[in-house]
Amino acid sequence: MTTREQNVFLAQTGPGTPMGNLVRRYWIPALLSSEIADPDCPPVRLKLLGERLIAFRDSMGRLGVMDEFCAHRGVSLWFGRNEERGLRCPYHGWKYDVTGQCIEVPSEPVESGFCKKIKLAAYDCIERGDVIWIYMGPPDQKPPLPNFEWATVPAAHRFVSKRTQECNWLQALEGGIDSVHVSFLHRHDLRSDPLHVSRGAEFTRETDARFEVIETRGGMVIGVRRPAMARQLYWRITQWVMPFHTMIPPYGDNALNGHAFVPIDDENCMVWCFTHHPTRPLSAHEFDTMRQGGGIHVKLLANSFRPVVNKDNDYMIDRVAQKHHKSYSGVKGIAMQDAAIQESCGPIQDRSKENLVSTDNGVIMARARLRKAARAVMQGEAPDGLDPATHAVRSAAIVLPEEANFYQAAADALVVREGTAHASV
Ligand code: FES
Ligand SMILES: [Fe+2]
Repeated sequence: MTTREQNVFLAQTGPGTPMGNLVRRYWIPALLSSEIADPDCPPVRLKLLGERLIAFRDSMGRLGVMDEFCAHRGVSLWFGRNEERGLRCPYHGWKYDVTGQCIEVPSEPVESGFCKKIKLAAYDCIERGDVIWIYMGPPDQKPPLPNFEWATVPAAHRFVSKRTQECNWLQALEGGIDSVHVSFLHRHDLRSDPLHVSRGAEFTRETDARFEVIETRGGMVIGVRRPAMARQLYWRITQWVMPFHTMIPPYGDNALNGHAFVPIDDENCMVWCFTHHPTRPLSAHEFDTMRQGGGIHVKLLANSFRPVVNKDNDYMIDRVAQKHHKSYSGVKGIAMQDAAIQESCGPIQDRSKENLVSTDNGVIMARARLRKAARAVMQGEAPDGLDPATHAVRSAAIVLPEEANFYQAAADALVVREGTAHASV
């Protein structure tokens, strides 16, 4: 059972919290590159782990992510003028470079050197896989660069989107680890969503699912088996890489899908959705379907990362579709089914009231692993999942003889092998 104290410990990621300190040890997906695509483009506000930040790309193309508010009298630099190698506050003209260093205070004589004493908190950022990642931890403990396959394949093999979700990050992550819900919540979509239809999707509709969880160096492998043909089992194998990356088992030759569930604050998270194919460019049809909100992606409100289907419109629930077995929950689309269900638990689910069963093993082990890692960081130890080799893993969906040990049998399929497609039925 998760106590109230443990629940709070897991949920809070603000500055100085144990989980916050843990998550700050990793590179964190922060923005789509396209949000600040060009030199001197408008700055963008973002909130991460409870911190309000501003991001911009200066005249030289350098990336800056720093405290949102001007050091003078606290104006939001979202109003800033991004020009001549820096971001200038429009109130009294103080100007900052990408490191947060103040480089001009027009009201003070240059000789005073006043501006040298002013610096906003700023974070290192890198660009990889059409995503801007930031590192918010202690500068001397910066890890090597992230090495997830979706971020390293050619751009034409990849589609990335993100959406806000109105609940704590852990609730969303747990949905990614709990692969049994697919047989229920997404049951009818497995037959209708063009990016999921496959033989495996038919096996997945089988509700007699058993769980096996294996701890790995970077996180966990979650194997779920369902009956397939005679004396054979269909295994769906999910990867969780600490602290918030999951890789969803594939369907047929459809591309691989994964998520990162990044805390915005304690009651909201950004759900990153990554689709990639290791060996081929995505087709025009696939890109089109994803842009229309198909697969694991969703349609967003204009100029926003909030889904069109959301809490305020009751997720456009269709009770007729629910009754007539067109949608198990009545909510349309795989991603919004997850979001609706997870948001419905409240902004921070009270886990002390749960009644867990054997298929919740993955969730139980992930919570324990996260708590252990946060405590280890408090003791000065490095957490798991920093080593780029632990990122170079894949999910898989395979059929094995009844007696096979899934983790051994799938060993090759569970790591990135360049030039080789994922294992999937
Ligand atoms: S508040 Fe920014 S320059 Fe005065
Ligand atoms: Fe789901």
